[in-house]
Amino acid sequence: MQPQQKSVLCVGLVCLDIINVVDQYPTEDSDTRCVSQRWQRGGNASNSCSVLSLLGTKTSFMGSISRGPVSEFILEDFRKFHVDASLVTEHAQCAAPVSIVIGNRNNGSRTILHMNSFIVSDFSRLSIDSSLLSWVSGTTPVACCVVSRSNGSRTVVLYDTNLPDVSLEDFSKVDLRNFHWIHFEGRNASEQLQMIQQVVQWNSSVPPDQRVSVSVEIEKVREELYVLFNMADVVFVSKDVARNFGFESAKDAVMGLSSRVRPGSALICAWAELGADAIKDGVLFHSSAFPPMKLVDTLGAGDTFNASVIHVLSQGGDLQEALSFGCRVAGAKCGFHGYDEIA
Ligand code: FRU
Repeated sequence: MQPQQKSVLCVGLVCLDIINVVDQYPTEDSDTRCVSQRWQRGGNASNSCSVLSLLGTKTSFMGSISRGPVSEFILEDFRKFHVDASLVTEHAQCAAPVSIVIGNRNNGSRTILHMNSFIVSDFSRLSIDSSLLSWVSGTTPVACCVVSRSNGSRTVVLYDTNLPDVSLEDFSKVDLRNFHWIHFEGRNASEQLQMIQQVVQWNSSVPPDQRVSVSVEIEKVREELYVLFNMADVVFVSKDVARNFGFESAKDAVMGLSSRVRPGSALICAWAELGADAIKDGVLFHSSAFPPMKLVDTLGAGDTFNASVIHVLSQGGDLQEALSFGCRVAGAKCGFHGYDEIA
């Protein structure tokens, strides 16, 4: 099989984004009407799949959903974007439907009520010990997103706690001959580390043209994800993580974190309107940003950047080219809602 017939596989989150477009980001504890509301398939790895596919890269998604109307919407949307979702694990449906209210639990201005917490509290109301309850099923994660028309900002509140992530066992069943690139959104890192080890082992047993490149995204500020820094050929580190390490620019971040990645690997950091920087074997790369005339929707801009970089690199392009293309496509994306206009 030729590399171009193989796919890019993205492993990570898929969720439902309920997107409320508002004129201005609302004041806490206010009651506003939104300009429009839509359902959109979300999740970093899932969004990156959409963008890769729109750019013309054959792509597959691997992640978890729970059977029900939300997952039907998600699977249909994968089909619409020509993303292969045959590696998605469907978990048994959680008996209870979901109910979410955006709120602030610190000052009680709103409450978040989820049916699972309802069940637990009901057990305690009846003095039944529920500590050994195990959530073998879950609900497909749902995010309530507020996109402001005044500046394109996106505010996300995600419910993503009870569905099992892709396990090592699931991953062991993947036929690596079908892929030439696997992108991991950092989540269950200690298990993802073992998945990557399987890829490394595979790579050592096949001729060079059949090897699988690995990229990882370290987006969330979570210590346990940092083991992934030295596990990939390409590492995307977010502005949030960089800041948490004490860096105030993308360039400082890639320079300061470069000792954490393997020799020969690229470390990439995007910094919104300041563009993106990368480092590989001590050589620095930079691309400025390409902002649209008007910022409309920045939800998924980072996922768009990652996908566009992977699109170029997986076709043999160089890092500078990939960085500039990533900034260009991500910038353009911020000028419209969703992803369709990328194509
Ligand atoms: C965008 C996104 C959304 C999702 C949230 C999860 O990057 O993937 O689609 O709701 O982030 O953190």
